[in-house]
Amino acid sequence: MKMRVIETNVGIQNEVTVEMFDSFARTMRDRGWNGVDSMIASGLRGGDMLEIGPGPGYVGLEIAKKLTPDSLTGCEISPAMLQFARKNAKNYGIDARYVQGNCMEMPFEAESFDSVISNGSLHEWETPVRVFNEIYRVLRPGGRYCITDLRRNVNLLARYLGLATAKPRAIRPGFISSLNAAYTVGEITELLRNSDLKGAMVTTDFFGLCISGEKK
Ligand SMILES: C[S@@+](CC[C@H](N)C(=O)[O-])C[C@H]1O[C@@H](n2cnc3c(N)ncnc32)[C@H](O)[C@@H]1O
Repeated sequence: MKMRVIETNVGIQNEVTVEMFDSFARTMRDRGWNGVDSMIASGLRGGDMLEIGPGPGYVGLEIAKKLTPDSLTGCEISPAMLQFARKNAKNYGIDARYVQGNCMEMPFEAESFDSVISNGSLHEWETPVRVFNEIYRVLRPGGRYCITDLRRNVNLLARYLGLATAKPRAIRPGFISSLNAAYTVGEITELLRNSDLKGAMVTTDFFGLCISGEKK
């Protein structure tokens, strides 16, 4: 098993990369490949919803379109991503609130949300256990979470298909560096065991992993 190679500790900041990522995320949405339905199937409900690392926002906005939560808030570290998320929410006609912040120390009161979602951001968090503890803190009792990401030890076919189909082509090296920075189920299980999300369930699919559960 190859060692993890850290991709970034400060999120995606470079404006050219952000624009390219917006185009990539839009393509994933249009192909129906952004995992929204399986995130919903994990048991997410509406209420006040928080998205961690929304990037350009498509995943949370698509979930909001389907679950019509009372509110949608995003916690995003990159100012350039925030601009795209705000523009995209406007186009969706969804009154989302995107806040600049580091998910390791979220700028929200305890028990502020009924659901927490995140896709593709986990591999960029410097200390995932701190984020898991923050998720527990900001959730109300009975609230649900679903965190999805790539998985480092996918098989060669998944690695090849992910690379060959990623559009625009310029994003392809970024796909590989994200994959190399992603966790294995064993690593995530160990991190969860040392966090307040001890009871979480971890499942896998072709490309990734999903951490889901409920705050008791
Ligand atoms: C690969 S993008 C995924 C974006 C989006 N969730 C999606 O699925 O299209 C990861 C996002 O997480 C953000 N991010 C990384 N570390 C973060 C942190 N510590 N706090 C908040 N956001 C973070 C990045 O800036 C980036 O927008």
